[in-house]
Amino acid sequence: MNRLTDRVAIVTGAASGIGRGTTLRLLAEGATVFAVDVNGQALEALHADDVVDAEAKARLHSQVIDISDERSVKEGVARIVESAGRLDILVNAAGILTAGHTHEFTLDAWNRIIQINLTGTFLMVRETLPLLLESAHGGRVVNFSSTSAFFAHPYMAAYSATKGAITSFTHSIALEYAGRGLRAVNIVPGGIESGITAATPGLLPADADYSLLAKLSAALKTDGGLGAPSDVAAVIATLVSDDGAFITGTEIRIDGGAHM
Ligand SMILES: NC(=O)c1ccc[n+]([C@@H]2O[C@H](COP(=O)([O-])OP(=O)(O)OC[C@H]3O[C@@H](n4cnc5c(N)ncnc54)[C@H](O)[C@@H]3O)[C@@H](O)[C@H]2O)c1
Repeated sequence: MNRLTDRVAIVTGAASGIGRGTTLRLLAEGATVFAVDVNGQALEALHADDVVDAEAKARLHSQVIDISDERSVKEGVARIVESAGRLDILVNAAGILTAGHTHEFTLDAWNRIIQINLTGTFLMVRETLPLLLESAHGGRVVNFSSTSAFFAHPYMAAYSATKGAITSFTHSIALEYAGRGLRAVNIVPGGIESGITAATPGLLPADADYSLLAKLSAALKTDGGLGAPSDVAAVIATLVSDDGAFITGTEIRIDGGAHM
């Protein structure tokens, strides 16, 4: 399918996991993609990846941005605007997970996850909105919530709080700018193979009660496995294309039936 020919997209968190999978999918559908991440080395590896053919590679650009840093976002987005001249799609996949007992969670750790997941999403939206609102196709924003915003995830209270806040933020901008052609949607993944899920066992407290995490397993993965980044990327490609024309201000849950 080539539903995104002539569209210009920014994907944050593009160096790994779901953001990387989304970058590859949007490229495959014909979009020009500005891959954004704080990890410049991993962004370079994306260019070297042979899953992207030469024609698509010509439409792949990368920009190092730390989304938690206002100056980095302003300067990085300005460079993209200078190069692309326009923007149709923003996918805010960058994020981190920290975990631990809430009674032991430090204020620094709390502030850091809010600054990256929530403030970073806000900064990227704020800096790109003027251009998204000028899009001839109608601007598209995809933000990353999580099933943790809707169903209890023990030891992840701070992470869950950022994802709940992103959900509300997305609803607000969806209504505020609907009249100007903008659509904004929350993606709600369950367990998906990524840097975050690979790191999760090492982040949980040593005395974690794993029985509390059992209900997070996907019904569709009887072996306890995870979904693939491409499972999420395929849905995002639909949402940002004209196939998603009547979808805004809502959540799309992609969790393999973990929470039925
Ligand atoms: N994988 C899952 O099971 C799952 C479930 C629910 C929600 N999510 C959400 O999906 C999104 C994608 O995460 P993922 O699972 O692919 O993880 P990932 O770790 O594979 O990818 C996250 C990317 O974000 C980048 N990043 C982190 N901090 C950044 C910053 N300050 N500035 C710019 N980039 C930064 C990282 O370098 C990394 O490349 C996240 O918002 C995550 O919370 C993931």
